[in-house]
Amino acid sequence: MPATTTQPKPSTSASASSSSQLAILGGPKTVESFDADLFKWPIVTEEDEKAVIDVLRAGTMSQTNISKQFEGEWGQFIGTKFNLCHPNGTASLLGAFFGVGLGRGDELISPSLTYWATAMPCMALGATPVFADIEKDSICIDPADIERRITKRTKAIVVVHYSGHPCDMDAIMAIAKKRNLKVIEDVSHAHGARYKGKMTGNIGDVACFSMMASKSFPIGEGGMLSTNDRTIYERALAFGHYERMGELTLPDLRPLAGAPLGGVKHRINQTASAMGRVQLKHYPQRIKAGVDIVGISHFGTFLNNTESYRRDLRRAEYGDERDAKMKKVFDRISPLNNASKITSPLFVAQGRNDPRVPYTEAEQIVKAVRGNGQPVWYLLYADEGHGFQKKANADYYGAAAILFWQRNLLD
Ligand SMILES: Cc1ncc(COP(=O)(O)O)c(C=O)c1O
Repeated sequence: MPATTTQPKPSTSASASSSSQLAILGGPKTVESFDADLFKWPIVTEEDEKAVIDVLRAGTMSQTNISKQFEGEWGQFIGTKFNLCHPNGTASLLGAFFGVGLGRGDELISPSLTYWATAMPCMALGATPVFADIEKDSICIDPADIERRITKRTKAIVVVHYSGHPCDMDAIMAIAKKRNLKVIEDVSHAHGARYKGKMTGNIGDVACFSMMASKSFPIGEGGMLSTNDRTIYERALAFGHYERMGELTLPDLRPLAGAPLGGVKHRINQTASAMGRVQLKHYPQRIKAGVDIVGISHFGTFLNNTESYRRDLRRAEYGDERDAKMKKVFDRISPLNNASKITSPLFVAQGRNDPRVPYTEAEQIVKAVRGNGQPVWYLLYADEGHGFQKKANADYYGAAAILFWQRNLLD
C-alpha cells in the first residue's frame, strides 16, 4: 500500500531509489536537465545531427539514395510494399488522390473533424470534398454517415485515425468494397497505431503520413505515401517525381515519363530522410514506453459522482452514462476495463478523497498492470480530492513524474 501522508512518497515496483534519495528531499539529482528540456519535441540526439550533417557535407540534399533507404525501412515498419517520400504530408495526400484516380467531377468523402490537408488537395484535381460526420466516442469518421453521403460521383473515402485513435476500419472497408470506392488512410496522427492488431496505414488502398516537427514521428518537414498497390504507387510517382520516372512499368504511364503529370515537384530534401532513418530506428521503443494516467478510470463512475452543477456540461462533453448505449461505450473504453492491455510502464497519481476517480478503481488498474509485468509507480495523496490542489503535492508529483520519464522513457 503506498504512502498516504501529507508528505507523499511514491511507491514503485521498479528498483527506483527510495524516496529519501529524491533531490526534492535533499538527495542527489537524477535528472540534470530542466523540465522544459524533458518535454521538448522532437527528440533530437547527436545521432540525428550526425546523419543530417553527413548529407550537408556530402552535398546530396537533392539526391534520392537516402530517401530510398528510408522508404524501404518505413515499408518494413508499416508492412507496405511501395513507399514514396514527399516533402510534407499535404503533398503525399495530393499524390495519393491522383494515385487512386480522383479527377474532375469526382467526390471524396472526408471526416468533418480534421486538418484541412486531409481533404482539400483533391480540389487541385478538380474533385470535391464531401464531409461526413464523426463518431461520438472515437471522434473518427462515422461509417454510417459515409454511407449516407455516397452519390454516383463518389470515388474515394479519406479517413483520419484522429489523435491516435484508429477508425472503424472493418466497417469502412466493407462499405468501400460494396460500393467500389478507394480508401485513403491519413495516418498523420497515428504513426505505429494498430487496429485489431493490424498496422494503421496498411489497411486501406493507400496511406499518407505527415512527418512535420510536431507529429509523433517527426523529421522536420516530410511526408510518406505507403501502399501495396503498384498502380497507385506509379501514378503518385508519375505525378510529382520526375527524377524517378525510370521506375515506371505500367504501359499507360511509361510513354508519359519525362515531365511530372501533376506539374509539381514532390521530392523530399534528403536531410529530412536522413533524420527519418534515425528516428525510425528508435521509434518503436519510443512509442512503447511511458503511459501517464492522471485521468478518468471509468467514465460512468466519473459522471455519476460529478457534482450536479457541472454534470450536464460533462455529459455534453463525454456522453450520458444513463443512456444504455453510451454506458456500453464507457464500459468498452474505460481504462479500468482495459488495464490488462496496458503493456507499458505506468504512473498513477491519485487523490484518496477523489469521488470521481475513486482510488479503489485506480488500485484495480495498478494491480492489473503490475500483473502484466510492467513497472507501476503509484502515488496516493491522502489529503487530495480530484486534481492536485496543494502546492507541495503538485511539486512532488512534478518531481516524481520527471523521474518516471527519466527511468522509463529516456534511459
Ligand atoms: C491529419 C493531418 N493530415 C495532414 C496533415 C498535413 O501534413 P503536413 O503539415 O506535413 O503537410 C496534418 C498536419 O500537419 C494533419 O494533422
